[in-house]
Amino acid sequence: MQTETINKLNSILERIASGQKPSELREDAQEFVASLDSAELAQVEHKLVEAGFQAEDFQSMCGAHLASKGDELDPRLLRLDEGHVLRTMLLEHDFILRFLSELEEVETRVASAAGFAELAPELEDLGRLSRNLLGAEPHHQREEQVLFPMLEGRGVSGPPEVMRREHDEMRKCKKMLAELAQPEGQKEFDVFQRWLGSTVGTLVPMLRAHISKENYVLYPLALEVLSEPELWDSMRREADSIGYCNFTDRPVE
Ligand SMILES: [Fe+2]
Ligand SMILES: [Fe+2]
Repeated sequence: MQTETINKLNSILERIASGQKPSELREDAQEFVASLDSAELAQVEHKLVEAGFQAEDFQSMCGAHLASKGDELDPRLLRLDEGHVLRTMLLEHDFILRFLSELEEVETRVASAAGFAELAPELEDLGRLSRNLLGAEPHHQREEQVLFPMLEGRGVSGPPEVMRREHDEMRKCKKMLAELAQPEGQKEFDVFQRWLGSTVGTLVPMLRAHISKENYVLYPLALEVLSEPELWDSMRREADSIGYCNFTDRPVE
C-alpha cells in the first residue's frame, strides 16, 4: 500500500479510536475507498471491518468505488481463458442483464394493457424469463460456495457478506416473479399488474447493481487476492460439481 493510502486509512482509524462512530465517517470512508485500486481495497476493507464498519457501510463504499471506475472492465478479466471460473461468471452476467432488459419491456407492456387477453406473448415471455432467472441459481451457488469462501480465507469478508445478503433478497423477488408467471398468479389483472410492477421494479435495479459490483469490484479483487493459477484450477473443479445455468448449457430458450 502506498504511504498516502496508509496515512488516510490511519486517520480514519484514529478518529474511530478516539470515539467517532463509523457511521459518522461513512462519507469520508467512501471518498477514500473510491480512490483505491482493487488490491488496496482488499487490504483496507479488512481493517475498516475490524474497526467497526458494517456490511452496509461497505456496500455504499463499493458503490463509490464502482462509480469512480466508470464502466471499463478490468483488462485482466478480459484476458481470462475459456472455462475460467470468473470468465464463465462474467458471461452469465451478460445473459442475466439481457433477461432483465427483456423483463422490463414485458412489464412496460403489461402496465399499459387492459387485460390478460391481449398479453399472450408477454405472459409466455414472462414464464421464460422467470425460468431463466431462477435458472441462474447455480451461478450464485458457485459464488457462495466456491468464490466467496476463498476470498474470506484471505481476509476479504465484507463484500462476500453483502453479496450473499443480496442473493437472498433477489431469490425472494425471483420466486415472486415465478408465482406471477403461473396462470394461477394471474387471476385479477390489476393486482397482477401492481405486483409485477413492484417485483420488477425491485429486482431489476438490485440485480443490475449487484452484477456491477461483482464485475467491477469483486471479481478484479478476486484476481488480485487469489493470484495462484492452481487455486483457480481447483475452484473450477468445485464449480463444475455445482453445475451451470439452464441458459448457457443449451441455447437460450
Ligand atoms: Fe452474485
Ligand atoms: Fe454474479
